[in-house]
Amino acid sequence: MSRDLGHSVHDTASSTILVVDDEATVRDLITRWLTSEGYRCLQASDVPSAWKCLCENDVHLVTLDINMPGISGMDLLFNIKSMCLDTEVIMLTARGETAFAIEAFTRGASGYLLKPVEYDSLLFQVHKGLEHRQLILERRQYTQQLEDKVQEQTLAIRRAHEETIHRLVNASMYRDEETGSHIKRVGLYCEQMAKVLGWSPDDVEMIRMAAPMHDVGKIGIPDAILQKPGRLSDAEFEVMKTHTTIGARMLAGSDSPMLQMAEEIALSHHERWDGGGYPHGASGLSIPEVARIVAIVDVYDAISHDRVYRPALPEKEVLRIIKQGRGSHFDPDVVDIFFSTLPTIQDLGRQYPDERGARCGNVELFPSGIEMSPAAWPTALPV
Ligand SMILES: [Fe+2]
Ligand SMILES: [Fe+2]
Repeated sequence: MSRDLGHSVHDTASSTILVVDDEATVRDLITRWLTSEGYRCLQASDVPSAWKCLCENDVHLVTLDINMPGISGMDLLFNIKSMCLDTEVIMLTARGETAFAIEAFTRGASGYLLKPVEYDSLLFQVHKGLEHRQLILERRQYTQQLEDKVQEQTLAIRRAHEETIHRLVNASMYRDEETGSHIKRVGLYCEQMAKVLGWSPDDVEMIRMAAPMHDVGKIGIPDAILQKPGRLSDAEFEVMKTHTTIGARMLAGSDSPMLQMAEEIALSHHERWDGGGYPHGASGLSIPEVARIVAIVDVYDAISHDRVYRPALPEKEVLRIIKQGRGSHFDPDVVDIFFSTLPTIQDLGRQYPDERGARCGNVELFPSGIEMSPAAWPTALPV
């Protein structure tokens, strides 16, 4: 029996036919006729042995007697059409009532022959049945090929999309303190949190690709500010803040839902739950959820890793800072999700450590920054 949807298409002359009839003379006659035409024939005298034969062989067509002792051929027809998708059935009966024929065709038979069976009619219906089967297999194979092609092209488009994003992010990274690993980790952490939040697989994939673009707007910040060693003046910090709006403008106007998501993240990843962030001082749920997620993982990752201007904070301190920001800097619900995802996030952190020689640029205290302890630690929160 074949239930394989990818069943191969082959020459109908080499087909295997199961002849089911309780009368040995009928079975032998049909078998002789079909064998002389080049078909391979199997025989069964009742429904149980026919079913066994179907389970053990790749049967392409069955000639099936309706009236047999025990289970009727009509019941076997039902089973064959439900379980053996690629097996055609021609019903044989001595009864000529139209109702029987209608029932047989309704149950999926492809032919119906009256006994005594004539050679020409049998051959005609067997040939027609096998041709029908061949057409179905060819159509299925063609559909499968089309689906494979579409899937292949979708994957190629997605890869090209992803590569473009990486190149864009790399371009902005050349002038920034961010490392490639940080960018990657931020995407992966967001992916984990989105999964726990119950997002659809497409949206989960989107945030993984969109989150790394949170700081692309830094490409528009002058070197004198972006790479200034030490603290920025208030005026310089005002310029630095514009990396959010510059990034959003760079990403704006796209039809791609992923770039639309990246635009929201770039614009709002420095907004705070309490309204004290920038660029718009948005608060609470008016900040897009994607940006509320990125805000947490960006801070978590930035302060968990060494930069040339400061060492990583101990994990305990990092987590204290995130907890402290619950309901002030960060969305409290998203902080809870973050902590429930923490073991996976920590695993990812270990899997993707910073590459050697992380780039260095300016880092500035968050304007309404979280109090850090010990106070001696230099400014560490990402801008
Ligand atoms: Fe970042
Ligand atoms: Fe930023």
